[in-house]
Order: sequence, then C-alpha cells, then structure tokens
Amino acid sequence: MASESKTSATTGPTGRPVRDFPVPEALESHGPARVIALCNQKGGVGKTTTTISLAGALAEYGRTVLLVDFDPQGALSAGMGIQSHDVPTIYDAMIGREKDIRQTIQPSAIAGIHVIPANIDLSAAEVHLVSEVARENILAGLLRPVLDDYDVVLIDCQPSLGLLTVNALTAAHGVLIPLECEFFALRGVALLVDTINKVKERLNPALQVDGIVATMYDARTLHAREVLERVVDGFGDTVLDTVIGRTVKFPDASVAGTPITEFAPQHASAHTYRELARELISRGAIA
Ligand SMILES: Nc1ncnc2c1ncn2[C@@H]1O[C@H](COP(=O)(O)OP(=O)(O)O)[C@@H](O)[C@H]1O
Ligand SMILES: [Mg+2]
Repeated sequence: MASESKTSATTGPTGRPVRDFPVPEALESHGPARVIALCNQKGGVGKTTTTISLAGALAEYGRTVLLVDFDPQGALSAGMGIQSHDVPTIYDAMIGREKDIRQTIQPSAIAGIHVIPANIDLSAAEVHLVSEVARENILAGLLRPVLDDYDVVLIDCQPSLGLLTVNALTAAHGVLIPLECEFFALRGVALLVDTINKVKERLNPALQVDGIVATMYDARTLHAREVLERVVDGFGDTVLDTVIGRTVKFPDASVAGTPITEFAPQHASAHTYRELARELISRGAIA
C-alpha cells in the first residue's frame, strides 16, 4: 500500500511477501459460472462495495458477471445505477411470482455486468419462505438456468445469518468474506464460519471458503495492523494478500451509481480491486 510505513517494499500488509498476480488471459468462451457469495453478518464491512468493485475489475478483464442483490436495502442495485422499484426483483423470483429468472436480469451501464435487483420487498422473504419445501435451495434452483451465460455470479448478502444468507450459501460454490479491520470483527467470523460449516454438512458439501478479504485497512493505525495480524494468525492463507485500504472515494462512486474502477479508474482503490480480481483468478476462484 502506498501509505504503508512499517512494512518494507517486499512485505505486504498481511506480513507475507508481496506477490504480483498476473493479468489474466482473455477467455475464449464464457461460463459456466462459479457462484460466489459475499457474506458477513455484520453490516457496513464492505460487502456491497467489494461486490460492485470486484465486478468492475472483472469486467475490465473480459469476465461476464451476474450480480445478485440479496439485501432488502438494495444498495447493490443503487450502486450499479439500477432502479429497483416497479421492476421484477429477486424477491418476485424467490416467491414464485416471476417464473422466468431472465425477466429479473437487467443490463448495467458497464458492458459485461448484469444485475438482478432487490428492494425492500425482500425483507418479507424469510417469513414468506419459512413454510416452503426445500426452502434453503430456492436461490440455487433459480440461478441454475443462467449459469452458462456468465463466468461468475456474485451474491451480495444481507447482514444476517438467516434464511436468505443460507440460500446464498447453498447456491454458492465459494464464499468471500469481507472483514473490516476492527477488533470486534473477529468474533463475528467464528460464528460465520460455523454457519458455513453447517451449510456444508447439511446442504452444500462442495462449498468452499474462497478467502477473507480485509477491508477499510488504515496502515497508519496500530489497531488495524494488530487486527490484521490476528486475522492472519487465525486464518492463515485463507486471508487474501490483497487488502482494501480505507478511503472516502467509495461513497462518491456509490452516488454516481458505478464501480470505482469506472468512476475513478486511476484511484488506488480501483487498482486494489483489480489486484483482488487477479488474486481470485490466480487462486482459481474465478475463471
Ligand atoms: N475501503 C473503504 N474505505 C472507506 N469506506 C468504505 C470502504 N468500503 C466501503 N466503504 C463505505 O462504508 C459503507 C459500508 O460499506 P458497504 O459496502 O455498504 O458495506 P456492507 O455491504 O457490508 O454493509 C459505505 O458507505 C461504503 O461507501
Ligand atoms: Mg451491503
């Protein structure tokens, strides 16, 4: 990181040697998608920002991306410039009111990124679905017919470990955990890992943790450095090398309704999310 004072030129914020992840080769054909759920039951940790920014970076590398807004707050939809009122949303598909998932998919201003929007209606979904048969498998079933059209599907989860998040984890091949570099964040991860393990045992044996990505890291504070050190001690290589620094640029990009990679292509954060995309591709989490 540019503002890094403690680490040397060859050591990254995780304490590991800095690696250069290669620019990925163009894909000759697209799909079938790997599905990645961005999960953390704590709000405000950078799930939505990471979903949108990672999609922006992946689109630059020629990957086709389907974004699923799975939070009734609809921040992903808004952040992608998609209006989510009076259109079919993921909620309509989840409750069976919209039978054709393709009717819920909207193009975005960025070539290669499509969005299934959400709005406040989705807050009624858990109550509505509780009596359904195989209620944990609904999202997985909805996404199956469109997987061949995309290289990756990113699901932006709501801040809870309830039925919607369990649906996301059941539909996913991998989980990416954005983790704010803040002390109390650590306690939440144990609970999240517990939920992931239960879903793995009971619903989705192939589910993998693709990585923990540290967000809102401020290298100038001892606190952030200590938290990151403890996360790396506890989770080892699951913690990605790429660490997202704290910056005020993200709210501006959200207001503009476009990923940071498009809004401020040369900003350090745009470069960091490109690095995250390259790291996930080189780990095999994304094609
Ligand atoms: N790296 C960052 N530095 C500073 N602010 C950030 C960063 N990432 C996200 N934010 C801001 O923090 C707030 C919460 O982020 P968000 O992505 O919406 O979190 P979540 O989806 O986990 O609730 C938003 O206002 C967002 O613009
Ligand atoms: Mg969010």
